[in-house]
Amino acid sequence: MGNKHSKYPKLIYKINKSVDDKIQNKECPQLHNQDDRFIDRMQMLHHVMRCVWDGNFKAPLGEQLREGGVAVLDVCCGTATWISEMAADFPKSTFVGIEKDSIFPEQKPKNVRIIQGDVLENFPFPDNTFDLVYSRLNSLAFSEAQWRNHLIKEYVRVLKPGGYIECVEGGLISENSGTIVEQLSTAIEKTLILGGRNPFLESKFPEIIESQPLMGEVTQTEATMAIGSWGGQIGETGLVIMLNMMSGLKKGIMHHMKINEKGLERVLEDYKIEWSGCGTGCFGNAWKGSCPEVQNSTWQNDM
Ligand SMILES: C[S@@+](CC[C@H](N)C(=O)[O-])C[C@H]1O[C@@H](n2cnc3c(N)ncnc32)[C@H](O)[C@@H]1O
Repeated sequence: MGNKHSKYPKLIYKINKSVDDKIQNKECPQLHNQDDRFIDRMQMLHHVMRCVWDGNFKAPLGEQLREGGVAVLDVCCGTATWISEMAADFPKSTFVGIEKDSIFPEQKPKNVRIIQGDVLENFPFPDNTFDLVYSRLNSLAFSEAQWRNHLIKEYVRVLKPGGYIECVEGGLISENSGTIVEQLSTAIEKTLILGGRNPFLESKFPEIIESQPLMGEVTQTEATMAIGSWGGQIGETGLVIMLNMMSGLKKGIMHHMKINEKGLERVLEDYKIEWSGCGTGCFGNAWKGSCPEVQNSTWQNDM
């Protein structure tokens, strides 16, 4: 997670946009503020996901990235933590991020360029530009129609022949969960649906990508993340992330569970106990992560 001796750049954040001048997605209005808590959550998530996935990417491009000359696009790069780490790990390759809110740091590694923009309005890259189009935790930012009719098409358009699209998502599905976890999960699902999202969209990613002309078969990898103290440091951090996410969605959760702030506090206390105190009962596929990798072996021949 970086200290003064870390090889990763120190990221300094400055949020300089008010909520009012943020880009609004009418089909999927923002469900929570992208404030300091959101930034903290995304950064914690980044580190947890790197551990759970045993690295920052799955596409088989390690050697080429090291040799240099590989062009990578990070769609909706958020706090730019992933892109900055990748840029430090692979200084001879180039990294471009696009993000609507200025929640990325002003100081960036030399081989990183971040464009502030709305990917629904404008995907400002020529065809066949990137060797890797990377997209993480973005499924709930857009409606299913926006994914199918616009985003995936743009990912494919800007991908070089033989390139890879890597989508990494975390599912809301949990295994062996207790009543409170289930009730909260249902309230979150309803909140997302009311906000124009499909909470289970991530499971459709392989099909959505494969349905694009010229795309080859998608490889899916799953990982499970521990939530709660039984899972050690990762589990503890996972719980903090989940609680932080709940507080971002608390209006919707309270509405669907028919409880007030006090009631929610009690539910969240029980939630912590349920995850942490049930021993073996708490194994969770709380994150049903999938990393589709697409190698377009047929693409080169078809172009
Ligand atoms: C859950 S965050 C994921 C951030 C990043 N991919 C990561 O893994 O840390 C989703 C991001 O999508 C961005 N976003 C949502 N709609 C967007 C749009 N229309 N254009 C560009 N970025 C958008 C949000 O601002 C947010 O930073």
